[in-house]
Amino acid sequence: MTTSTVHAPTPAVELAGITKRFPGVVANDAVDLRVAEGEIHAVVGENGAGKSTLMKILYGMQAADEGTMTVGGSEVRFSSPSEAIDAGIGMVHQHFMLADQLTVLENVVLGAEPTRRGTIDRAAARRDLEDLGRSYGLDLDPDDHVETLEVGERQRVEIIKVLYRGARVLILDEPTAVLVPQEVEELFRNLRELKARGHTIIFIDHKLEEVLAIADTITVLRQGRTVATVDPSEVTAHQLAELMVGSDLPTPSTEPRADDDHVTLAIRGLSIPAAEGRPALDGIDLEVRRGEIVGVAGVEGNGQGVLVEAILGLREATGGDIALDGESISGWPVRRRREAGLGYVPEDRHRRGLLLDAPLWENAMLGHQTTAPYARGPWIDRRGARDATTDIVADFDVRTPGIDTTARALSGGNQQKLVIGREMAAGPRMLIAAHPTRGIDVGAQAAVWADLRTARADGLAVLLVSADLEELIGLADRLLVMLRGRIVAELDPATTTPMQLGGHMTGASGDGDPS
Ligand SMILES: Nc1ncnc2c1ncn2[C@@H]1O[C@H](COP(=O)(O)OP(=O)(O)OP(=O)(O)O)[C@@H](O)[C@H]1O
Ligand SMILES: [Mg+2]
Repeated sequence: MTTSTVHAPTPAVELAGITKRFPGVVANDAVDLRVAEGEIHAVVGENGAGKSTLMKILYGMQAADEGTMTVGGSEVRFSSPSEAIDAGIGMVHQHFMLADQLTVLENVVLGAEPTRRGTIDRAAARRDLEDLGRSYGLDLDPDDHVETLEVGERQRVEIIKVLYRGARVLILDEPTAVLVPQEVEELFRNLRELKARGHTIIFIDHKLEEVLAIADTITVLRQGRTVATVDPSEVTAHQLAELMVGSDLPTPSTEPRADDDHVTLAIRGLSIPAAEGRPALDGIDLEVRRGEIVGVAGVEGNGQGVLVEAILGLREATGGDIALDGESISGWPVRRRREAGLGYVPEDRHRRGLLLDAPLWENAMLGHQTTAPYARGPWIDRRGARDATTDIVADFDVRTPGIDTTARALSGGNQQKLVIGREMAAGPRMLIAAHPTRGIDVGAQAAVWADLRTARADGLAVLLVSADLEELIGLADRLLVMLRGRIVAELDPATTTPMQLGGHMTGASGDGDPS
């Protein structure tokens, strides 16, 4: 039996004609977004399309210049996130905002502590947290310190924190970017559970297969405008990619490499004890040859980050040796290693890769400020630096109003493109790339893959650390798996599936755990 209704049901959230201008850019240009009550709604679009801006407006972090917002049928106007929270809207940011030293319980209640006669009622908070965890199947120990948690667990803390504040509508900005396939499945189970309990979910994602697997509705943004709202059962990933960037869906792949036995990077017995919540490295041996891409897979926190820092000279090893083109660089400071041709795309571009409040042309010489074209003798070559930046912006398709714009004003994906462009433009011998395509759209991803392939063909040696298993399998000539600070497997990418690789990473494959 169907009854015809004149009025569509009231949407959970409706944004109409939202416009947001920044100097030189219209981030949102009369964007419409209609999210039905109790659905999972994906927002996709290329880097800089305006997705995060739209979500920040809905969450009260930024004010729209024009347009209206309704939540549950009533018009709202938020001047801060706390007003959005009061209206039942919560947001999980891509860069988690948890306090590492505090426990799960403390993080969840921080700023919203229940009180009893003026003091914090810890027992009540604990009960609430346990109830929430149970009813949503979000498994967490309230007394664990956040610094000891894996990424997927931290994300669950963020989600519970938002639920604890009574959110009915949850916004997640690129929640899957940091997760391995197994964790993505768990997140999706959690999201479906939230939906079953009547919550509404809005999330941003660059991985279109994932979007198609979980979303009820997909809105596509392009250059600040809504270009389509589609039903996932009616589109393919290819069509979605076309809507987003006007081009086809790329896949990572490399030709077999030319025979070249020259070893560019040689690491022998590298060891570092665990410290400050960072995992140890335990006798790492690895080689990267000229024209070779060696992929490193691992669940975050199993030593890949420490390995990268040790190669760069950011962490001192207690044992073993690192050699570049046959010469030991173990005692060298970071700058000397960089000058010797070590390129570095850092994992945390906010902390290590960029000066957010400096203009692009200064960011483009970070780490290279002592060599041409950025320097002439002891002096900064301003002209040379500006010209080089203009080239990087053009060659790597960094979408920006100009090279005097601050790095902070770029969208997440465009910040990443700037960092990659800077490192590739310097013509390194050895590139250490940590998650080079994290957060960048399918078009830009294809460009980075092509750049890596070209550089490899020209003899560049690449150590590629990535959480994107398709990328690792598609690009790498050899794959190494790290678990608890050791290399526990070497796999042939030609015969390994993402699921098998995920199994080795979690030690679930049976032969992954050396102990
Ligand atoms: N605070 C700001 N100041 C100036 N410009 C900004 C600011 N925030 C965003 N922009 C600009 O607005 C546009 C949209 O950015 P936004 O971060 O919303 O994109 P996005 O769709 O989330 O992209 P990505 O996928 O790369 O994260 C970009 O051109 C960006 O440079
Ligand atoms: Mg964004």
